[in-house]
Amino acid sequence: MVVTIVASLPCFLLASPVSHASSTSSLFFTRLSSSARLRLSFAVAPLCSRRAKFMAHSLASANLGLTQPANIEHPKIAFAAIEVDVGEWKGDMLAVGVTEKDMTKDENSKFENSILKKLDGLLGGLLAEASSEEDFTGKTGQSIVLRLPGLGSKRVGLIGLGKPASSPASFFGLGESVAAAAKTAQVNSVAVVLASSEGLSNESELGIASAIASGTVLGIHEDNRYKTESKKSQLKSVDILGLGTGPELEKKLKFAQDVSSAVVFGRELVNSPANVLTPAALAAEASKIASSYSDVLSANILTAEQCKELKMGSYLGVAAASDNPPYFIHLCYKPPSGPIKSKLALVGKGLTFDSGGYNIKTGPGSAIDIMKNDMGGSAAVLGAAKALGQIKPPGVEVHFIVASCENMISGTGMRPGDILTASNGKTIEVTDTDAEGRLTLADALVYACNQGVEKIVDLATLTGACIVALGPSIAGVFTPSDELAKEVFEASDISGEKFWRMPLEESYWESMKSGVADMINAGSREADAITAALFLKQFVDEKVQWMHIDLAGPVWNEKKRVATGFGVSTLVEWVLKNSY
Ligand code: BES
Ligand code: MN
Ligand code: ZN
Repeated sequence: MVVTIVASLPCFLLASPVSHASSTSSLFFTRLSSSARLRLSFAVAPLCSRRAKFMAHSLASANLGLTQPANIEHPKIAFAAIEVDVGEWKGDMLAVGVTEKDMTKDENSKFENSILKKLDGLLGGLLAEASSEEDFTGKTGQSIVLRLPGLGSKRVGLIGLGKPASSPASFFGLGESVAAAAKTAQVNSVAVVLASSEGLSNESELGIASAIASGTVLGIHEDNRYKTESKKSQLKSVDILGLGTGPELEKKLKFAQDVSSAVVFGRELVNSPANVLTPAALAAEASKIASSYSDVLSANILTAEQCKELKMGSYLGVAAASDNPPYFIHLCYKPPSGPIKSKLALVGKGLTFDSGGYNIKTGPGSAIDIMKNDMGGSAAVLGAAKALGQIKPPGVEVHFIVASCENMISGTGMRPGDILTASNGKTIEVTDTDAEGRLTLADALVYACNQGVEKIVDLATLTGACIVALGPSIAGVFTPSDELAKEVFEASDISGEKFWRMPLEESYWESMKSGVADMINAGSREADAITAALFLKQFVDEKVQWMHIDLAGPVWNEKKRVATGFGVSTLVEWVLKNSY
């Protein structure tokens, strides 16, 4: 498929905030390859002047603070599912996942579990001794690593899984703990085995192996692009023992890696500061994904002028104050062959920075210092595009849509009280310039409906109210469709990401009425996550099944001050459910 840039993106000189092993970009700048066959739709004269202006823009923004990300490659970890005796496996560290039940000992203080018993025998009883001295009981989060002679492996680690009958999330956690132990010991090769893996169904084995692999990749990942000194992980290979072998398992492990590398991509987009990741840079990243998987993905990037032609007054109102021009991103996935069963759209909020505008974010609770993460929804959407570009599911068409811009303050910016007209003709009185995400999503949702899709899922760091309601690790789900809710919750059961359905209480729409326009954009503080969702609903065709996900909390890890990559894996699983 041809990548079509239907506008002159500043593609010749763009900051490249996300750098990948697969990327062919030069050290600091992205040059879209000629093989991507760019079609620039401007006439020659305006193209030149426009390009000069864009280059000035991107140069100015790229040089602000003189920061450029280092092109750090994430070497791929090789995963393999093999059958080897735990005592014989040769490598740097054998990690054993143990539940609290696996740790029970008999009257002679010997392990009852056969794998632990065997290892303890080979180690002359030191495993039982060390685990009881160090109080290791198999609880989640506990781990011990011992370096002892007696095994094929240099080290043996015990990693707590908590209570038996664990969920995908606990095996993901096992992978993360393996990564942490591998980093501390600076090891090259690891084997992972469960103390109890008898009687598992084939499907559970696949799910567990892939959760371990994802947890390991994402646990190893550190975003060091902006650090002048950093330690590189040494981990090169992970063997998964006792969960079977064969092509089905290998395929699942490859899938886990495709999704995990897309999560890493999403994290790095969100971590990128707003002086580097401008709307133009985000659009360039999206174009790069399309050209990397050009057999299934195509890109259409719209300029402000083109958005004006489409009457996107709501989105352009938000973009108006910024010196960094907005870009409307539209990627389209089509399967390599075969009929299309369903058409979907994923819409992401893409505010590369949210100052609040004239209703500027002030005070410690306003979190203005982390508002580069206000494009977390778009990171999930573009991450999903990257993963699906690699997985290439049949039978499904997917549109990835982001109305990207910055919410800033200037003489050209929208004022409180301004009335904006969205692309469906509805008018909005701006009662709060900080309720900007819904304004950008309004036009993005109208555009998505015009693509003839049956289902839309939008993701947005939309409200602080949703964080107040659900805390930092659970996303709010709003949808009138029980069917769509069921699909997404089934997807999240596989991904292990946490969602909670919230009510779309129609009677609350009363509070969003305007005296002079069709609606206001922000009502009272009460139930703002709900009224925000009701606002979005005004821009969705009734015939389309729609879900809004507020991920303001879970996109961000407050303790580490880094992005989580939340949303990517659930979106991929949901699209696969709509494939065949
Ligand atoms: N991007 C913010 C929401 C947000 C807040 C995300 C904190 C992550 C952490 C959004 O644009 C916003 O400012 N929402 C306002 C809405 C209000 C003015 C109605 C909010 O939640 O305060
Ligand atoms: Mn805001
Ligand atoms: Zn915002």
